[in-house]
Amino acid sequence: MKYTFLGHACFTIDTGKEKLLFDPFLTGNSQAAVSAEDVRCDYILLSHAHSDHFGDANEIALRTGAMVVAIPEVIGLFSKALSNFQPMNLGGTYHAGFGDVKMVQAFHSCGAAGGTPCGFIIRFKDGPTVYYSGDTALFGDMKLFGELYDIDYAILPIGDNYTMGPDDAILAGKFLKAKHVIPLHYNTWPVISQNVKAFQEKAKKEGLDVIPLRPGESIDL
Ligand code: NI
Ligand code: MN
Repeated sequence: MKYTFLGHACFTIDTGKEKLLFDPFLTGNSQAAVSAEDVRCDYILLSHAHSDHFGDANEIALRTGAMVVAIPEVIGLFSKALSNFQPMNLGGTYHAGFGDVKMVQAFHSCGAAGGTPCGFIIRFKDGPTVYYSGDTALFGDMKLFGELYDIDYAILPIGDNYTMGPDDAILAGKFLKAKHVIPLHYNTWPVISQNVKAFQEKAKKEGLDVIPLRPGESIDL
């Protein structure tokens, strides 16, 4: 399985059979490693509807026919010409071909009226368990996620201002008992600039393995 960081909070996970695209903000993203016209995917998972997450989701769904996984209020923002949706809500699990996708809470705002932001815990079949928190503050139930799931990779924002910052992300990684932390949602704009090397070193002292990636870089999960 391959994780590829595409810039800001956009990434793909390729199982070898299916490609999952998360929070595809590419057009207007100076960090984007691929253009919205060129990205390939079978699923689009959205944490919430802020423009730096929803981004090009509608255009990509129209072009690819990918299944959109999101809460109903976010799905309501898509073109009426589309129908390949998996609407879900907090606490629910979607049993997909590639594994189980659980939608979990995030502490943020949604960007779609009446909606709530979310994160995803994905247990890949014969693969790792991956938690993507979406935009969120630190919250105590991350400890519960750490108890309930054997989290191999926690994909967490570290930018501060709009989300938790580096120190809270270290606490999050500890709460989650994550084997590895992949940071994102930083350095896209000055207001969320962070020194990722300093974050990595501080996290290491707390026993956490941080894997910083530049836009366009991939790792095997
Ligand atoms: Ni947001
Ligand atoms: Mn954001």
